[in-house]
Amino acid sequence: MTNKINYKRRNFLQHSAIGMTAAGLFPKLLFAKNRSLKSEPTASFKADVEIEIISRDAYVPIKSGRKTKVQKYYAKLLKGPKDTIVELEDNYLGPTLNYKQGQKVRIYYKNKLTEVSVIHMHGMHVPQSSDGHPMYAINTGETLVYEFEVLNRAGTNFYHSHSHEMTATQVYKGLAGLITVTDKEEQALDLPRGEYDLPFVLQDRTFDGRNQLQYLHGMHGKMMGFLGDTILVNGKPDAVFSVKTRAYRFRVVNGSNSRIYKLAWNDGTPLTAIGTDGNLLEQPETRPYLMLAPAERIDLWLDFSHRSVGDELVMKSLEYEGAMPSRGGMGMGMSGGGLGQGDDFSIATFKVMEKVSKSPVLPKKLVKIDRLTERDVDNKNNPIPIAISMKPMRPQLNGRSYAMDRVEDFEEVELGSIKKIKIFHEHGGMKGGMGRGRGMGMMMSMAHPIHLHGQQFQVLSRKMEGRGQEEYKTVSEGYINSGWKDTVLVMPGEELVIVKPFQDFKGLFLYHCHNLEHEDLGMMRQFYVS
Ligand code: C2O
Ligand code: CU
Repeated sequence: MTNKINYKRRNFLQHSAIGMTAAGLFPKLLFAKNRSLKSEPTASFKADVEIEIISRDAYVPIKSGRKTKVQKYYAKLLKGPKDTIVELEDNYLGPTLNYKQGQKVRIYYKNKLTEVSVIHMHGMHVPQSSDGHPMYAINTGETLVYEFEVLNRAGTNFYHSHSHEMTATQVYKGLAGLITVTDKEEQALDLPRGEYDLPFVLQDRTFDGRNQLQYLHGMHGKMMGFLGDTILVNGKPDAVFSVKTRAYRFRVVNGSNSRIYKLAWNDGTPLTAIGTDGNLLEQPETRPYLMLAPAERIDLWLDFSHRSVGDELVMKSLEYEGAMPSRGGMGMGMSGGGLGQGDDFSIATFKVMEKVSKSPVLPKKLVKIDRLTERDVDNKNNPIPIAISMKPMRPQLNGRSYAMDRVEDFEEVELGSIKKIKIFHEHGGMKGGMGRGRGMGMMMSMAHPIHLHGQQFQVLSRKMEGRGQEEYKTVSEGYINSGWKDTVLVMPGEELVIVKPFQDFKGLFLYHCHNLEHEDLGMMRQFYVS
């Protein structure tokens, strides 16, 4: 890092929020010159794949009758394999982008919206300049060039708008799409492919009587997060999938602003996951239900081979508790008579329509994952904190709101290091819980999906302290902690320890709450890798 003022690295990271606010007020300006917009291709970067992506207003059919005004990504393949871009018909979702590990990708992003925007490649391990940091937001008519090599392993990622304080509204209006990556390791496995490998993007929306999107009004709603009353799968309500008696891979992406799903079959059949956020697991994991917070992904192995033609199954979100502030606090899980957080509802119907005799068999082993442990980190006794707090009307991380040009000392990370990071609630988190800060902070504690940009991480431990154990039991069997992750659900009272490598790329990489309303309220910070 040039111009570095040599602040001594201070040990104020003892996870006490008091400590941090007292000692940690040493913000430093980053240099505006870090933001040099790349609007031209780099000649030395020989792209295998070139894509033009345009964002603009559009009208698409979502519900029957009048079309809905949305914001949408359109993509055009300029160079590369034909299946790089797959459209979802009549949809506000952008086309699915299919990459292969090792490909060099160049994207020309052209913003034709009437407001600024930028695309973030969620889950992709790419340089700062191609990560869609909000400092790169471009105006109407401008072009931003992304150039990166696909370093990710096979898995499911997504792209979405990441505009400063407008992520929630732009994603809500439609600016998102799926990214898949494949690699040799995955191709060696007999997994469902082609028409048996399908997207399952979960979003909730609210429509007015003229089929137009309704969003939140007012601060209270933003603090709670947007919860729509209509569940959409791949951009459509009342989703129905016609399936054959064989195995499928469904790439489930929670693309909702705030809604947390508790996925389960209506008949109690357990669910089998083969992948989480962006990577396949070492081995399939089977659970009675699976929790999926905003931005989390799960690749499901749905096997209909023991079903009969005519069978119907319903994928549901089951009831759970504890994600929203208690009654004494800010309010309940409801957003004005709609579907509350933790309510029971149906997501999609699967109709078994055709009998076939062949199906891939669930592999016992999937891919190799090198497990990271405390021995791999260089800050075992001094983890980087991500402290969650909810001041009235201000959800924060590490006691601070987002500032594009600020990084604290503890947010500076050496390139190539592997760090232990502790994610926890500043007030202990439980309603009426323990310790200091009894009152507003605790009453308002709620679940937060915490996302870290850049390279993916592993979950070392989760623990739940204080009250709320009963509520916690309604979600805790639904976590999958064994794979590579980039987003984790943190319930009130919960504390996670994760291990994250910061390799390959220097620069600013965000970490934030992926409850998009919280993100836009400033519940976001950034690491500076140097
Ligand atoms: Cu999907 Cu910074 O977010
Ligand atoms: Cu949050």
